[in-house]
Amino acid sequence: MSPATSFVVHSTLGNAKAYHRVSGCWSSAWVSGTPRARHSARWPRPRGRIGHRLSVPLRLQSNEARSPLVDLRGKQALVTGIANQRSIAFGVAQALKQAGAEIGVAYLPINERAESKIAKLVEPLSPTLMVPCDVQSRANMEALFDTMRQKWGGLDILVHCLAFADRGDLEGDFSKTSRDGFHLALGVSTYSLIEMCGLAKPLFRKNGSVVTLTYLGAERVVPNYNVMGVAKAGLECSVRYLASELGPQLGVRVNGVSAGPIRTLASSAIGGITTMIRNVEMNAPLRRTVTQEEVGKTAAFLLSEAASGITGQVLYVDSGYAIMGSPVFGDGAPGGGAGG
Ligand SMILES: NC(=O)c1ccc[n+]([C@@H]2O[C@H](COP(=O)([O-])OP(=O)(O)OC[C@H]3O[C@@H](n4cnc5c(N)ncnc54)[C@H](O)[C@@H]3O)[C@@H](O)[C@H]2O)c1
Repeated sequence: MSPATSFVVHSTLGNAKAYHRVSGCWSSAWVSGTPRARHSARWPRPRGRIGHRLSVPLRLQSNEARSPLVDLRGKQALVTGIANQRSIAFGVAQALKQAGAEIGVAYLPINERAESKIAKLVEPLSPTLMVPCDVQSRANMEALFDTMRQKWGGLDILVHCLAFADRGDLEGDFSKTSRDGFHLALGVSTYSLIEMCGLAKPLFRKNGSVVTLTYLGAERVVPNYNVMGVAKAGLECSVRYLASELGPQLGVRVNGVSAGPIRTLASSAIGGITTMIRNVEMNAPLRRTVTQEEVGKTAAFLLSEAASGITGQVLYVDSGYAIMGSPVFGDGAPGGGAGG
């Protein structure tokens, strides 16, 4: 075992504690379980009796060893989709900045007032790029990546955090989705990822990484999500195809984060977002929905070397809601209560 590796002691009660063996001095850790706790023959038997405090070696760590798990120092990250302080993209940008990345921002140019609001919002992130880009315009997209090539000379991280559909297509009968509405939703929300990755290809540096934002409505029926569910299904499929293309060619990883419902500008267009959030608060294992900060932290992880073996995946950040096969039985509900 190398001096820095960890070992885990499993007990017959299912408890497990991880030990960090970093040679030098000794630290202690608590191992719970029964005297019959198993440990792998590969690892040395821990000293002392199980159930007592045990000592394991600990060497004072070097500065390098102490660096955070999610370390994005020296990386240049383009974040798309910041509209205001509630935007999930803003949570991601903050997490990336905290991890040491240099931030570039691409925003939808609506009007001067909105632009100066975004500029003020992102000021603390000290962005070294601020580029207007409507993803419906090929010229805008080319100009964005051209600016990046000129100013940064390359790209390490791409965050795709945008979506749009006509409000009228986010309620009522799905079969009434308009032809134009379908093209609009999939063009902005799905095709933009494919196009961005294509334009970013010549710019990606070694170990580059992409994250996009998706939602459970891609896989299951969520009332009113309608055409956006189709767009997100296409987005998640695109994640897999892009991962398969960019991995062997460039070593670039592509992943999705499936976030639980959060109140934002985009989500407020979905009929019943308040009910969706309440439903998660009542039924998700954590009994709450998630925050932009939690989504941001997971995106930063996926974009970092800590996730170097993960690509083509969709990771849920939803308080566990997606694992539930049924609403929780409340007190008094059939089959609910103790022993129900
Ligand atoms: N809020 C949620 O509950 C939730 C849950 C899961 C996934 N998501 C996804 O997260 C992403 C970000 O959404 P959000 O909830 O933070 O809302 P938001 O409104 O803050 O962000 C949406 C962004 O898309 C941008 N956008 C729309 N049309 C564009 C265009 N033509 N060109 C460029 N940009 C355009 C908007 O300017 C905005 O910045 C979306 O993909 C959304 O589907 C949101």
